[in-house]
Amino acid sequence: MRTERLELRPPVEADRARLVELWMDEDFMVFSEGVRNREDANERFDRMLMVADRFPFAKQPVFDLASGTLLGYSGIDTFDYDGRERLEYGYRLDVPARGRGLATEAARALLSLADSMVEELDPVWQREVHALIDPTNRPSQRVAEKCGFRFWRHDLVEGFHDDILRRPLGHAD
Ligand SMILES: CC(C)(COP(=O)(O)OP(=O)(O)OC[C@H]1O[C@@H](n2cnc3c(N)ncnc32)[C@H](O)[C@@H]1OP(=O)(O)O)[C@@H](O)C(=O)NCCC(=O)NCCS
Repeated sequence: MRTERLELRPPVEADRARLVELWMDEDFMVFSEGVRNREDANERFDRMLMVADRFPFAKQPVFDLASGTLLGYSGIDTFDYDGRERLEYGYRLDVPARGRGLATEAARALLSLADSMVEELDPVWQREVHALIDPTNRPSQRVAEKCGFRFWRHDLVEGFHDDILRRPLGHAD
């Protein structure tokens, strides 16, 4: 998929080295559970491949259209909360790529794809996607708001005190 400035596509094995490097980078991993060691980062990439088999709008690498540089990732994964598995939208860009509206551009494109496929989605997902965001992470809150997410509640999710935002799928704001 292409946007004005980006290319997004499902992950392939050739993306592993760059993403593993990013997941081991402190600046890239700000507002997260922290940097991964090499083994964990590789496991994370394995999961990315697995989730990408389930959803075309799963977390996937984001490339600068002009240079082909891998800038980070954007897309959907799943998480467990309040007794059921739910969809979660997440994004992370390399430091030089931040502050230019690219995270919003990527997320809008993949969320539109998810909206367009809502009829094919298993009803278990209840036509909604969540975002889990540190309450002090204003840039991320803004990206989510601009993509149609709204505050739902604050709670402990997988060991972190996060704001949980929600966005309906199929009929965005
Ligand atoms: C969060 C992140 C993906 C945003 O990427 P980005 O491409 O810079 O985001 P955008 O440029 O699309 O939008 C950022 C918005 O936050 C705003 N913003 C940036 N810094 C801000 C600050 N300190 N306070 C308030 N708003 C801020 C920007 O002004 C912009 O909003 P606007 O368009 O209304 O002006 C990027 O900063 C990142 O990778 N951060 C580290 C990882 C991370 O936090 N991921 C999310 C985990 S939940």
